[in-house]
Amino acid sequence: MNLGYPTRRLRRLRYNPTLRAMLAGVRLSVEELIAPIFAHETLDRRREISTMPHQFQRPVADAAEYAAALAGKGIRAVLIFGIPARKDAAGSGAWDDQGIAQQAIRAIKSAAPQLLVIADTCLCEYTDHGHCGPLTGAAGGADVDNDAALAALARTAVSQARAGADVVAPSAMMDGQVRAIRTALDSAGLERTPILAYAVKFASALYGPFRAAAESAPAFGDRRSYQMDPLSPRQILAEAGADLAEGADMLMVKPAAAYLDVISAVSAALDAPLAAYHTSGEYAMIKLAAAAGAIDEKRAAMEVTSAIKRAGADLIISYFAEDLAGWLRE
Ligand code: PBG
Ligand code: ZN
Repeated sequence: MNLGYPTRRLRRLRYNPTLRAMLAGVRLSVEELIAPIFAHETLDRRREISTMPHQFQRPVADAAEYAAALAGKGIRAVLIFGIPARKDAAGSGAWDDQGIAQQAIRAIKSAAPQLLVIADTCLCEYTDHGHCGPLTGAAGGADVDNDAALAALARTAVSQARAGADVVAPSAMMDGQVRAIRTALDSAGLERTPILAYAVKFASALYGPFRAAAESAPAFGDRRSYQMDPLSPRQILAEAGADLAEGADMLMVKPAAAYLDVISAVSAALDAPLAAYHTSGEYAMIKLAAAAGAIDEKRAAMEVTSAIKRAGADLIISYFAEDLAGWLRE
């Protein structure tokens, strides 16, 4: 019979650092990290993103070199975003076989063939209005045309997979996007290409720095008619379940650190590999607070990413991936 204190002293397990390390049930590993890369079509040298210290927009050759360097540090996977020279209303650069993402995918696969290349499949970097699909002039103003977006997203995924993407990751939050992409991949003979679905993606203030990096901020309005309301928990399993039913192979929750409850709920309810996206805003909060001397960068980044794993994520997309790879080797 355990009567608790003073018989049971929980601190007894915390004095010896060896025992502490042995009892750590959550061990972050480089195997589960995914590093985002921004490939820019018109730059001729890399350019730092001011709100994301040490993250860069990169010309294709630099993106390939950087990817190879990441692979050399033990990173297994990268997530590719393209920033095109030209944008239009439909976002046609997204499915251009010679488009920026396709160029980057090819260059990275040839520089680092063993690196898993995941392509973000969306239109917002390619549309001149910055929304994740083409617009329709519905009564009361423009909105994103869900069903017109599906064909565009499907073409984009096929083009990315043909360029060599090992995985496609649809992030537009259009209803039916996973099914449209699965159907298109299969009829193109790409039935072995897995889909990592941004299934539970919230309309979050934490994407701010990314939109500067990807030059994809909406020109008007916001994404609340397609991305989820952070305050509607009943839609979490509905979204994740729908994507699985449509053929998603892996699921994603995004953002991550402020949504540990969501990661935990999806992880407990569904048997599919689960990724979590530690977003640009979450990166910036740690980086900028550390630069101001408020927190210790390494300890904060390790603690937060480990917490994402503790909540139930199998894969972690993070701008800290490169740093984490180094810290985990120390
Ligand atoms: C594109 C996309 C976004 C992010 C990933 N894919 C931006 C958005 O939805 O506005 C955000 C990533 C980040 O903040 O790091 N749909
Ligand atoms: Zn988008």
